[in-house]
Amino acid sequence: MSDMNSAAAARATLADRAACNPSFIEVKNVWQEYGDQVVLERLNLSVAEGEFCTLVGASGCGKSTFLRMLLGQERPSRGQILLDGQPLAHEPDASRGVVFQRYSVFPHLSVLNNVALGLELPRAPLLGRLFGGARREAREQARAILRKVGLGASLDKYPAQLSGGMQQRLAIAQALIMKPRVLLLDEPFGALDPGIRKDMHGLLLELWHETRLTVFMVTHDLSEGFTLGTRILVFDKPRHDPHAPGAFGARITYDIPLNEDRRAARAAVATLPAHLAGALNAAHQGA
Ligand SMILES: Nc1ncnc2c1ncn2[C@@H]1O[C@H](COP(=O)(O)OP(=O)(O)OP(=O)(O)O)[C@@H](O)[C@H]1O
Ligand SMILES: [Mg+2]
Repeated sequence: MSDMNSAAAARATLADRAACNPSFIEVKNVWQEYGDQVVLERLNLSVAEGEFCTLVGASGCGKSTFLRMLLGQERPSRGQILLDGQPLAHEPDASRGVVFQRYSVFPHLSVLNNVALGLELPRAPLLGRLFGGARREAREQARAILRKVGLGASLDKYPAQLSGGMQQRLAIAQALIMKPRVLLLDEPFGALDPGIRKDMHGLLLELWHETRLTVFMVTHDLSEGFTLGTRILVFDKPRHDPHAPGAFGARITYDIPLNEDRRAARAAVATLPAHLAGALNAAHQGA
């Protein structure tokens, strides 16, 4: 199945999922400030369960900061984020998995151990090792998920022996083994060749289709945002003070649904302000 077809098929089931939980994640008047620099201001967003949000915006506008807040790694300076009606835990937990642009796997562990570790650590926090049946089960689950991401033949390799695309597959397997409800992806394919990127898109859509994951993915590549997302969120600074560059933060200035009428969505993107379109293209070319 082509990327576009599988995206369309996945989108078809989205309406059912969203109907179950239309405000799975709620961002309420969220601000993030570092010292006197306002990075993000007045963010308001409601995301249904199972949506695939792609986040675009100029470099430095706060996309990664937003993901870190969703992960619970950082608290907003103001406002609140709710997950399923509950305030987010102030630490990352198993409900949210994350994959960063640069490989985040453990270099001294084999592929299989990198993935099994996620299951072993929470249950055996002191030693990081399970024994007997529990250990066998953890490793069996890790093997299954590694087969799914196409690494079934590389279980005993070490990360340095894998290609970039394989390392990102490993990072995705590592995030998925914890069965998160939300998957956060920060330019996960930015460092990959175009051909491998395309394979990764297919894999990601397949996994998204199979699970009920809600995805937030930062990308500098608008066409990637279109192929994968059910919704594009554009981050931009609507106000500037040339004498105080940190005085105002970015907001979500466009929130574009990518439903069946994708031509309308493309037309909406064509109307993005020139500075924004330029920034996205430049960032993409530089990526
Ligand atoms: N912990 C921090 N302390 C101080 N400033 C920070 C911190 N984290 C981020 N910033 C600042 O916040 C701004 C937004 O950074 P962020 O990494 O979120 O941008 P981004 O949109 O992800 O950019 P890029 O597209 O280049 O990855 C930057 O000016 C950065 O310097
Ligand atoms: Mg970033």
